[in-house]
Order: sequence, then C-alpha cells, then structure tokens
Amino acid sequence: MADPKIAVVFYSTYGTNHQIAQAAADAARAAGAEVRLLRVAETAPKSVVDGQDAWKTQLAAMQDIPEVSPADLEWADGMFFSAPTRFGVSASQLRAFIDTLGGLWSKGALANKAVTATTSAQNPHGGQEATILSLYTTFMHWGAIIVAPGYADPIKFEDGGNPYGYSTSAGKFDETGKKSVAFQMNRLIEVTRKLTA
Ligand SMILES: Cc1cc2nc3c(=O)[nH]c(=O)nc-3n(C[C@H](O)[C@H](O)[C@H](O)COP(=O)(O)O)c2cc1C
Repeated sequence: MADPKIAVVFYSTYGTNHQIAQAAADAARAAGAEVRLLRVAETAPKSVVDGQDAWKTQLAAMQDIPEVSPADLEWADGMFFSAPTRFGVSASQLRAFIDTLGGLWSKGALANKAVTATTSAQNPHGGQEATILSLYTTFMHWGAIIVAPGYADPIKFEDGGNPYGYSTSAGKFDETGKKSVAFQMNRLIEVTRKLTA
C-alpha cells in the first residue's frame, strides 16, 4: 500500500499553532506518511505585522515553510489543520485560504478525504471547541470525512479533553499536547489508509 499523503496546513501569529503543526508533521512522518508541512499566507498588512515584534519574529521564523496552495489539498489524501481562535472562530488568514477552494470543491476534489483540526485560544473557554466545530462545518460542505479524536485514547483525559480536536491555551503546547497531537494524527492516518485502500 502506498504511503498516505498528508497535508499539515496551519496559520500562526505567535507560534503556538506552528508548534502544533510541526508536532503533527513529525508524528505523520514517524507513522510512515508522505508529509507536506504548509503555512497559510499572511494577509495582514506589513505595517500591522511590523508593529508587533512577536508577530514579525514569528513570520520570519516561518519563511522556509512553503505557503499552501489549492494544489496541495488536491495532492493530499488526508488533511490536518491548525489555526488560532479569533473571536470564537478560526483566524481569517485560514478562512481566506479556504475561500480560494471553490474550484476544488466544485469538482469534488475535496470529497472523501480524511480531515481533522486543532486550535489554540487565549482562554480555556475562549472558543477552542467552537473554532474547531466551525472548521468542521466547512469540511462537511466539502464532503470530507471528519476524524475527531473523541475520547478514543487515554491521552484525551489528560490534554484538556476536547473531543473535537486537540486545543490548548496560547503559548502552552507541552509534552502532553505533543502526545495528543500524535494520537490525533495517527487516527487521521489510520482512517486515511482505510479510505485509500
Ligand atoms: C483579533 C484576535 C482575536 C482573538 N480572539 C480570541 C477569542 O475569541 N478567544 C480567545 O480565547 N483568544 C482569542 N485570541 C487569542 C488567540 O487565540 C491567541 O493569540 C492564539 O491562540 C495564539 O496562537 P498562535 O500562537 O499560533 O498565534 C484572539 C487574538 C486576536 C489577535
């Protein structure tokens, strides 16, 4: 059986979702997948980014990571998304990319692919679950197969217990988080393998 092709697509302003995505990509490679780690393009004006040292530094730290294009999602058998919570939904940078996918959607190229999502937010009750669910609404429009972690592994009783997808408070991605993301990625790969068998 060919190695599953996994796209790890993320947006990050301050680094948390970059760390999550990197851990997801590492776990996918360890599981034998062919992996593309891809960042969503920054859409905020340069003057705004340059006005915050932390934002500017994070953008510079991601320069070697290719920007995602629709062709990457056409290539992928399975997709892992990570983006910050913004006012209870995902960052508009990710939404802007998603809004370029009409062409793929209209030819059914996103249907039947396995997909999962993760996020971070400043506050534990600041919208982590809602952000992931809002992405899942979009994935249902694609006809993708949503792979939520549920409580299907003991790590979900240690990581804060978001059954929709791993989530954490901003800047707090730790070893437990890594294990949870690895579990979520392995589950995505398991379903991807079944769908592509
Ligand atoms: C415009 C804006 C809106 C935000 N909205 C929320 C929110 O609704 N709830 C929350 O807990 N955190 C909110 N945050 C905090 C972000 O979720 C936090 O900065 C992010 O999780 C950090 O991820 P990153 O390090 O990958 O950029 C917001 C931040 C910004 C800049």
